[in-house]
Amino acid sequence: MDISDKLKSSLERVESAGMVALDPVQTEVMDFLDGLKQHLIQNPEPVFAILRRVKPILIVKDTAVVTLFEDVQEVLSRDDVFQVTYREKMEVIGGGSNFFLGMQNSPDYERDVSHMRTVIRREDLPGRVLPFVSATAEGLVAASGGRLDVVQQLGRVVPTCWVVDYFGCLEADENQLAADATVMFQYLFTDLTNDPVVGKGAREAAARARDWLDRSIAQRKSQSPASQPDDVIGRCFALQRAGVPGMDDIAIRSNLLGLLVGAIPTTSKCCAQALDELLNRPDKLDEAQQAARSDNDALFAGYVFEALRFNPNNPGLFRIAAQDYVVAKGSMHATTIPRGASVVAATQSAMFDDRFVEKPNEFRTDRPPYVYMHFGYGLHKCFGEYINRVQIPGILKPLLKRRNLRRAEGDAGRLQYSGPFPSSLTVSFDP
Ligand code: HEM
Repeated sequence: MDISDKLKSSLERVESAGMVALDPVQTEVMDFLDGLKQHLIQNPEPVFAILRRVKPILIVKDTAVVTLFEDVQEVLSRDDVFQVTYREKMEVIGGGSNFFLGMQNSPDYERDVSHMRTVIRREDLPGRVLPFVSATAEGLVAASGGRLDVVQQLGRVVPTCWVVDYFGCLEADENQLAADATVMFQYLFTDLTNDPVVGKGAREAAARARDWLDRSIAQRKSQSPASQPDDVIGRCFALQRAGVPGMDDIAIRSNLLGLLVGAIPTTSKCCAQALDELLNRPDKLDEAQQAARSDNDALFAGYVFEALRFNPNNPGLFRIAAQDYVVAKGSMHATTIPRGASVVAATQSAMFDDRFVEKPNEFRTDRPPYVYMHFGYGLHKCFGEYINRVQIPGILKPLLKRRNLRRAEGDAGRLQYSGPFPSSLTVSFDP
């Protein structure tokens, strides 16, 4: 019996025990789950790699983990069967209002996404988003004097400043806003145990953020329509004046709140983790730096998003099964996921599935775009996808242009976490 066979038989025992009764092997089940949880949190890919081979769809207790490329896409594209679970918490954050990531496929979902697509436009990327991001990042790198905490002094600052500017809000305490967005994100998406401390922090953060958005909207309302700047709030007001439904002040606030929660901690995390992966590979870091210095933005972005594949923002996305459903029907590993089960669509695992991703353990920048699932798949695919393609490389580029870029000495130079989010990664470079 090789290691895979042993694991397979162990998984089968754990799976059947987990589904039926947890008596004779309860300790083994719990140990296994604890071990799996630790692994999954810190470095899930080795576990995913084994699952892809021996148990591509694992069901333990009431949770299914789906690991193969096409199965992950099947789960995320069947939004009627595998539904998002964020509504209740979205309403807590929104002061009673849901946000479209918390909605099932419905007229309200379509209305709100359409409104936000009307006010946050892809054509703003080259002339507006990128110049703002680049100038802000360059200013921070230049001011640092050659030593910079990529999380605290760059990655979380730029998206926060960008949100305030692009939305057209009142000035904000950037540190507070970034911290508030982070705890709200944690509460909504990663706090699976409903930790009361996280819940309390998120409620307080949400109240502060709602108040700031209310004041921003009121201040902007006090200006005449003719003098409204052409920014997100100005464009929302234009829809409101045209009598478009679902665009009253509370709806504007809820949409902006949901967007800023989605935008700030994710961007910050991706910047830190992508850079960390590049620092782990000096040859790739060197190539990425050459791409940055020669302003080959497409190639540079290729390095950033390939680096992120090794430590993505989220290894998987959660759904709940609204009915019994057979995933991978007709295949040898077809598996019925029972109604009510939680489902983890392991997007990182999909990005390492060698039937779709050539030599997945190699760092390559020539992969077709469809292999990347950093931004999800299907109905709820990231609203900010095209912003991210510009913003994350745009934040890192000024730093990677610097000579002699390296980790700071000691612990400061290691990527450190506070909960699910990076808290610090300090680098040094020739100023
Ligand atoms: C590095 C940056 C980002 C990453 C890695 C990221 C990742 C994701 C992922 C994986 C999802 C899918 C969630 C699911 O299916 O359960 C998602 C959805 C979403 N993201 Fe992002 N995101 C990023 C930045 C942004 C930005 C900048 C914005 C806003 C400007 C944003 C707004 C949203 C929204 C609104 C949704 C829900 C879309 C929907 O329900 O249709 N995200 N994001």
